[in-house]
Amino acid sequence: MGKLKIGILISGGGSNMLAIVKACQAPDFPVEVAVVISNRPDAKGVDIAKTHGINTIIVDHKLFTDRPTFEAVLNQELQNHQVELVCNAGFMRILTEDFVNQWLGKQINIHPALLPAYKGLHCHERALADGVKITGCTVHYVCLEVDAGAIIAQAAVPVLHADNAASLAARVLKAEHKLYPHALRMVADGRAVEANNIVRVKTNVHAADNLYVPKI
Ligand code: GRF
Repeated sequence: MGKLKIGILISGGGSNMLAIVKACQAPDFPVEVAVVISNRPDAKGVDIAKTHGINTIIVDHKLFTDRPTFEAVLNQELQNHQVELVCNAGFMRILTEDFVNQWLGKQINIHPALLPAYKGLHCHERALADGVKITGCTVHYVCLEVDAGAIIAQAAVPVLHADNAASLAARVLKAEHKLYPHALRMVADGRAVEANNIVRVKTNVHAADNLYVPKI
């Protein structure tokens, strides 16, 4: 069977994108990166993707008068590259209902918290303010409600007493780099199928496949 063609949407640093690109370099990884698309021309991830020889396209949202016209071009580029699964990796645009519906079940995202806790922005600040001792990250399918789609895989990350938002974000980001390729492999292998907003991971390998616990 051929590899699953993905398109990665980015807006910034692109470190999750890079983790996926590196995972895809392994011959047995069942995914290939067809295109990386950034909505910001100056995103650091754009240079990183180009350096790794990936087709890299900029669709600058500021050049469009509204979201549907921006998304029409985004969609066209994904189609042009025969993308089968869209992977949002630090992509900071809210998507319209039409776009979400077009890619329903075929679009995933990574969020830097253990969903359903801390949806939305400033997760680390809120986790610290609550004094939680464990946070983490989540790869989930994208649905209409932001950060509410079916959970594919999660990684637990400790909160240390000396943490500030930056140190916690850095620790979570390291886990994200492991979790995203891990979740992507499960999706590509057909082991993370969604039904009624729940992903039941089919596995005969390891019962805890959908939970990644990094070493501290
Ligand atoms: C990650 O923490 C991601 O979960 C969040 O934004 C950050 C993006 O980092 N949505 P990068 O662009 O992948 O380096």
